[in-house]
Amino acid sequence: MSNDNNLTRSEILTSGHHGGLTGQFDVPGDKSISHRSFILGGLAIGTTRVTGLLEGDDVMATGRSMQALGAGITHDSDGGWTITGVGTAGLVSPEAPLDLGNSGTGVRLLMGVVAGLPVTATFCGDESLSRRPMARVTDPLELMGAKVTARDGGRLPVTITGARTPLAADHSSKVASAQIKSAVLLAGLNARGTSVVREPHASRDHTESMLRHFGATVRQNVEANGTHIVELEGEAVLTASDVAVPRDPSSAAFPMVAALITEGSDLSIPGIGMNPLRTGLITTLQEMGGDIEISNERTEGGETVADLRVRHSQLRGIDVPAERAASMIDEYPILAVAATQAEGTTRMFGVAELRVKETDRIAVVAEGIIAAGGSVTYDEDSMSVTGSPVAGGMTIDSQHDHRIAMSFLTLGMVSADPITVTGCMTINTSFPGFAAIMNSCGAALASIGDT
Ligand code: S3P
Repeated sequence: MSNDNNLTRSEILTSGHHGGLTGQFDVPGDKSISHRSFILGGLAIGTTRVTGLLEGDDVMATGRSMQALGAGITHDSDGGWTITGVGTAGLVSPEAPLDLGNSGTGVRLLMGVVAGLPVTATFCGDESLSRRPMARVTDPLELMGAKVTARDGGRLPVTITGARTPLAADHSSKVASAQIKSAVLLAGLNARGTSVVREPHASRDHTESMLRHFGATVRQNVEANGTHIVELEGEAVLTASDVAVPRDPSSAAFPMVAALITEGSDLSIPGIGMNPLRTGLITTLQEMGGDIEISNERTEGGETVADLRVRHSQLRGIDVPAERAASMIDEYPILAVAATQAEGTTRMFGVAELRVKETDRIAVVAEGIIAAGGSVTYDEDSMSVTGSPVAGGMTIDSQHDHRIAMSFLTLGMVSADPITVTGCMTINTSFPGFAAIMNSCGAALASIGDT
């Protein structure tokens, strides 16, 4: 059996049957809120203390980039973080390119920051990030006055020279994307006038609530046709404000599904963020018959959190509507795994955005489940999974996508033979310690080979 350190540093993990997950599963801090804590803390004037921050690779890349832009960031002896914000006027052009690694959120939000300041920065990232579309963010930023050069097709590396006085944005996004919305809002902080962003469905609103927490004026509205509108008053002065980061519902998704589908499971997952724009998976799994008890709802650091208790359940297939996609966009890979264990077919609609995540998640999930002996059909914008026994006994290449790796390790817990997953170091981008915590609750994950 591998020790914890080997599990965390292993490229290859294998996952097999266990006797159910029990006890308490402590999920790390919310990735979205952690990125925003470093960014807004650095843009504010004064000292911001952050507790519960996710210390994953993605968030650390954002922290290093904010330091390179001039913010002070230190890791305190009590485990918290202190950010010494210099205000928007105090940020400077970094000496070297900002390397955001695997992080779409980090790179896109920081492009917004730079676009609204008189500084120049070059952004780069790993192979996966360098394939992902950036024009969806840089196009509206150019309209606000930023100068942008990008590799063909609007890919990284991208260099942005921000506008001294950005124009207020009036942007209608074709897709519901918190990354696009947040980039435009962050650039709008220094604009004269009110920036407006419209999206077809509401995406997560952590930027809006955290901007308010730091003193900006932000309004949110819904039009009769369902369009969501955010307005931000420009020339905002942000004031340092402490942040308590709740535990990440997107990371809780893995133990939640693992407990639902494995016999004998009865698992407590405390302190999970319950922002309604993040809880689409819980709603979906409950509709499928999942026994998920939500208790002790409370407000911590301005966010609603609750304790979850999840017990093994027989799931049934349902239709997951397109309107729900934004509230569970990162959870479809693990939902597809849950659906392999349901009676009947689970149909997921309006999921085209999955194709431009860390991998093309529709293709990678579908092909992986089919290779493991499951039943999936898909097209550009939808995916259907029909429950059936899964054989396993094979290797899945996660293609260095953290959520793909964790999803197939979860599938290995119920397949007839174990599933081996390659590219597992990437799990550290969002969930350091995933395999060790799983094992402490009863899972049987082991590292293979190259530790
Ligand atoms: C995120 C937004 C989502 C999500 C990502 C985190 C954020 O992307 O997939 O993991 O923190 O803003 P989009 O809203 O762009 O789909």
